[in-house]
Amino acid sequence: MTRERQRTAARAGSRIAAAIVALCAAIMIADYAAARMHASGDAERVADLQRLTQSDASFAAKLAAEQDRITRVRRARKARGDVLSVLLIAASSAFLASAKWLVALDGPRPVVAIILLASLRARSVPPSAVVEKPPPGAPTTPEIDLTFVDRVVAKEGRSKEAAILILQAIQAHYRYLPDEALKRVCELTDVTPAQIAGTSSFYARFRRSPVGEHVIRVCHGTACHVSGARQITEELRRQLRIPDGADTDPERVFTLDEVACLGCCSLAPVLMVDDHTAGRLTPAAAYAALDIVRRRLQL
Ligand code: FES
Repeated sequence: MTRERQRTAARAGSRIAAAIVALCAAIMIADYAAARMHASGDAERVADLQRLTQSDASFAAKLAAEQDRITRVRRARKARGDVLSVLLIAASSAFLASAKWLVALDGPRPVVAIILLASLRARSVPPSAVVEKPPPGAPTTPEIDLTFVDRVVAKEGRSKEAAILILQAIQAHYRYLPDEALKRVCELTDVTPAQIAGTSSFYARFRRSPVGEHVIRVCHGTACHVSGARQITEELRRQLRIPDGADTDPERVFTLDEVACLGCCSLAPVLMVDDHTAGRLTPAAAYAALDIVRRRLQL
C-alpha cells in the first residue's frame, strides 16, 4: 500500500472510531437521563396501584402488568448498556491504534502528539526500541564514527536536560540521528530511550534516517497543495525510485521532503532542490526541472 493510501486508511479509521465513541457515549447519556426522568413516575404509579389493590383486588392484574413493564424496560436498558460499553472500549482502542499509525506516517500533530507522548511517558522503552527498521529497498546505513558522540556528551553533560542539545549536535554533524549514536547517548548519559524516542519524533527537524546528498523540498502549503503538489511528489518518488515508507532514493542522492509554504505562492506549485527554486510545475515539468538541476550540479 502506498504511503498516501495508508494515510487515508488511518484517517478514515480514526474518524470512524471517533464517531462510534461519540455515538455510544451519546446513547449511554440519553439512556441514563431517560432512566432518571422516568424513575419517580414509575415508583408513584406502582405505589398508587398497590394502594388500589389493597382496597380492590381487581387492580392486582394491572399492578403485575406495570411491574412487568418496568422490569422489561430496565433489563433492556442494562443489555444495551453492556453492548455499548464493549463497543466503546473497542472503538477507543481502534481510535488510539489509528492515531498512532497516523503519527508514525505523518509525525506528531498537536492532538495525537499529546496521546502519543502520554503513552511514551507511561511505559519505559527498551534500548532496542530506539532502533527503527528501514523500509524494504531503502539504502543501507553507513558506518558511524561514534567519537563525535563522546565529545558532545563530554561538552554538554550527562543530565536529562542536555538531551535536546546533544540531539541537535548529532543531527548537525551526521545530518540525521543514527541509531548507534542514540544508543551511545543512552549508555553515556541519564537520557532514556523513551526520552529520545519522544524528543526525536516530536521535533520535525530531527531525522531518523540518513539524508541524501541533495534535498528536494516540495511545497505542500495551501496554494501548492491545490495546484497539484501531491501529484508532483508522487511523480518524483516514482522517477527517483524512492521505496514506499522511505524518503531517499536507493543511491542516497536525493531526499524528498514535503514542506510547508516556501514563501513564493504566486509560483505554485513550487519545489526547491537545495537552494534552487522551480515554480509553476506539472508532474512532468517537475522531473524536467530536477534534470536541469542535476545537469547544473553535474550529477
Ligand atoms: S504554498 Fe507553496 S509556496 Fe506558498
